[in-house]
Amino acid sequence: MVKGAGCYLWDAENRRYLDFTAGIAVNALGHCDPEMAKLLYQQVRREVWTIAFFPATLTTAQALTLVHTSNLYHNPWVGELSKQIITKTCSAGAMHSASKVFVCNSGTEANEAAIKFARKVGKVRTPSGSQHEIVSFQNSFHGRTMGALSATPNPKYQKPFSPMIPGFKYGTYNDEESITELVNEATCGVIVEPIQGEGGVNVATPSFLQALRNRCNDVGAVLVYDEIQCGLSRTGQLWAHQILPPSAHPDILTTAKALGNGFPIGATIVNEDVAKCVVTGDHGTTFGGNPLACRLAHYIFSRLSDPELQASVLDKEKIFRQGFAKLQEKYPEHVKEVRGRGLILGLQLTVDPAPIVTAARERGLLIITCGTNTLRLVPPLIITEEEIKEGLEILEQAMEVALKRPHEVHSTKGQQEMAPPGR
Ligand SMILES: Cc1ncc(COP(=O)(O)O)c(C=O)c1O
Repeated sequence: MVKGAGCYLWDAENRRYLDFTAGIAVNALGHCDPEMAKLLYQQVRREVWTIAFFPATLTTAQALTLVHTSNLYHNPWVGELSKQIITKTCSAGAMHSASKVFVCNSGTEANEAAIKFARKVGKVRTPSGSQHEIVSFQNSFHGRTMGALSATPNPKYQKPFSPMIPGFKYGTYNDEESITELVNEATCGVIVEPIQGEGGVNVATPSFLQALRNRCNDVGAVLVYDEIQCGLSRTGQLWAHQILPPSAHPDILTTAKALGNGFPIGATIVNEDVAKCVVTGDHGTTFGGNPLACRLAHYIFSRLSDPELQASVLDKEKIFRQGFAKLQEKYPEHVKEVRGRGLILGLQLTVDPAPIVTAARERGLLIITCGTNTLRLVPPLIITEEEIKEGLEILEQAMEVALKRPHEVHSTKGQQEMAPPGR
């Protein structure tokens, strides 16, 4: 892929693709957002500034607007971004206790920080060190560094790098009955996705999340919601957990992906109870919180927290669901279930979706898979009704070819004949 604009990408041979993947739920504002490009340029360009030298002489000089200072120094943009995240999270009715933000460079790093913070809280609350276990769930995905990977119980990802870090336990998603035994006095933290993305677009029931919260309260463990994929208005609300009452809100919330619309940034949002256990020097990052990433994320967050955009996500979900209903009617044997909320949607198939993904790509539509035999649709949130309909039409054609005549999908001759419409 070499070029992009809005919901379209172009490859090296100038073929055009409608993008239902948004760089895996990242480009919520689409590709090459013009305002983002402008801010990026403004933040890195050389400008004539009036600089105050010490003592009190004023002169003009050329200076760079900062890209990086390290986390040794405060910069205005990390402050502005953090303030915006906290204010808008609380006013949206999500994580009511949100208080401080640790800014890093990816989703994995945001979760790694969350895991470390949970361990630190456990150490502070139980100095003997016995409260150190982290609980996560089957089919979750929390990242690929050793801590985040240890919380990701997928043999495909863990096995090549085993052994995992000690002290990680795995439960069954949405199984409320197992919570009492799973989360106990040895637990310092529970990490869960309100909607599992990679695991198959599985939606947590509100009562499961409430039960986790209650049990964390009972044993003094920290509850972490990983909204790296499902957050930032992908569900039509700023945060996916926003539908829950405050009594089910988390102690830590992690975000990344759409926060930078493609520019690397992640954040770990914590409440005061967690913040007071973590002291300067406990954790850090050289690049995290740099002025360039934070300025971009500040702009992106303000766009994504727009109620008009959020309302439009729900309208767009309806169009997708109408299209899926049609596909379900046409292929009752193959389309088992539709899952998800807003624009994080999964189509559960009874067959391997890989040939459909290939046939769709050959016709100019990008889609991805997840879980077991699930097609995942996570398009840019700015997608239009026409684009959704265009994509659904291509998806229907791809299914027709892949489900009825799968052999054609893999033949070279077939591929040449199936040149995408926007070539
Ligand atoms: C829910 C969730 N958590 C964490 C991650 C890891 O984020 P990153 O790839 O930015 O490190 C992902 C990435 O897919 C994710 O979907």
